[in-house]
Amino acid sequence: MFAFLNGQFLPRAAAAIPVEDRGFLFGDGVYEVWRVLNGRLFENERHLARLSSGLAELRISPPDLVQPNAVIGIAERLLAESGLTEGEATFYVEITRGVAPRTHQFPPAGTLPTVYATVNRFTPADDARARGSSCVTVPDLRWLRCDVKTVQLLPNVMARQAAAERGAIEAIMVRDGIVTEGSHTNVFGVLDGLIRTHPTNQFILPGVTRAVVLEIARSLGLQVREDALTAQDLGRLDELFLVGTTTDVMPITRLDDQPVGAGEPGPVTTRLVRAFREYLDAACAAAHVA
Ligand SMILES: Cc1ncc(COP(=O)(O)O)c(C=O)c1O
Repeated sequence: MFAFLNGQFLPRAAAAIPVEDRGFLFGDGVYEVWRVLNGRLFENERHLARLSSGLAELRISPPDLVQPNAVIGIAERLLAESGLTEGEATFYVEITRGVAPRTHQFPPAGTLPTVYATVNRFTPADDARARGSSCVTVPDLRWLRCDVKTVQLLPNVMARQAAAERGAIEAIMVRDGIVTEGSHTNVFGVLDGLIRTHPTNQFILPGVTRAVVLEIARSLGLQVREDALTAQDLGRLDELFLVGTTTDVMPITRLDDQPVGAGEPGPVTTRLVRAFREYLDAACAAAHVA
């Protein structure tokens, strides 16, 4: 696989950053992950908007990559060099505050951000999607700016590991009795005929897939409310599903070792699984040409 690092394209194994990079020392940076289909970036504008707003929140000066044409050019070259212009892939970008002697406050003006990008082959988890998957709940131990997509992911890492150790695909986080989101997904439930998910605020990442799924659900005439589920709601859900760039729409049929609803993918989720996949295929087919 190929990588882009600070203006240069090189084999990923040859890409290296100095040990004083603030991403390494402090987790002082942001990242973004795009879904790629046949060389086309899904929802590029939304990913770039979130990347720009994260950089602005952290007061990191935006590098050229944050321009639509620049990011598409870099992605296309990485995909081509890595043999990924057909089929499924992901495109990863990380921007840190750059390299400087270790001190907490910002480095001197003029310190250049580190810009890293790479691509990976991707296989959607369609078998798990057909069967339904399992999740566990964990306490949400994160900071109060979960809306910023920073590379500080330790609570997410610990949560996902806890899920893996219990044979589950994802950990659903609960803060003060409120369901926030998964370690790398947004969480939706269907209760009494209504689709519910946490509103966008500082307690969740404003997921690109979440926004697309909300639009699709509304366009299908489904009842949707951006109103968080509570921990109590979890025990009486009709349906539960996760959404995310590498998850699409994923039915969850077991939660904390108990069946959710009928214990199989429900009608609302199944409809959204299909509609989302159709949207993804169509949107990528119509996106920029690789
Ligand atoms: C904490 C968290 N929530 C939600 C998501 C889903 O966001 P998106 O649909 O933009 O991938 C992610 C993606 O990585 C995430 O890390």
